[in-house]
Amino acid sequence: MKPFLVAANWKMYKSPSEAVDFLKNFVARTQDLPPERKVVFFVPAIDLWVTQQVLRGTQIEWGAQNCHYEKQGAFTGENSPAVLAELLTGHCLVGHSERRSLFGETDAVLAKKMKTLSEVGVQPMLCVGETLADREANRTDQVITEQLAQGLSLMDLTKPFTLAYEPVWAIGTGKVASPEQAEDAHLVLRKKLSEILGTVKATSTPILYGGSVKPDNAELLFQKPNINGFLIGGASLQIESMLTLAAVGLASR
Ligand code: PGA
Repeated sequence: MKPFLVAANWKMYKSPSEAVDFLKNFVARTQDLPPERKVVFFVPAIDLWVTQQVLRGTQIEWGAQNCHYEKQGAFTGENSPAVLAELLTGHCLVGHSERRSLFGETDAVLAKKMKTLSEVGVQPMLCVGETLADREANRTDQVITEQLAQGLSLMDLTKPFTLAYEPVWAIGTGKVASPEQAEDAHLVLRKKLSEILGTVKATSTPILYGGSVKPDNAELLFQKPNINGFLIGGASLQIESMLTLAAVGLASR
């Protein structure tokens, strides 16, 4: 069974009490996940404390969806990477397309976030992806490799990180990339990673696919060799679909 990372992106959904109910239920019903199956919940920052209380000591991990690039400072309303580390937050998304498009985050800012997170010991998950206009203009490979190279440009590359390929046109739209489209993009990213990091580290760096992953399309995506996990928005909010997705591919073992 290949190692596989199933990540939930809850975006701006779920209050602390809803998070606690969901996560307790989830943990109770995933006791038999094999060690090569990792699950991470990217929860709203305001839920991180209670998430830690529920998930600490279980095999389920948690992460934040965003942070500032400075460890601390006069940045009203922002989340400190140092505090994320103190809350034992193992992961943090960087450059989700909603951050890039709605909050104007640039590759230069994201590179700083990657650096700071890896310095404080929180594993960044860099999100890259092309818009529909990019894809139609045959610019997909160029856009995603550029986002990748820029994102990694400042950090210590001996530190661990993960990558999520999320075509913007597939996020929250119900339009999923075909397994072949996703695999092609993952191969392009893997090749770029090899150039930057060498083949060994490139092979062991997980590349997740995200964009309308649902129980009914997950199995075929799972089978693609270069897809090492999923980043799931909408379908991660319902306990039954998240449980099904967390167990993708396990029935056929
Ligand atoms: P979606 O979101 O699964 O609802 O398309 C994915 C994401 O935004 O990470």
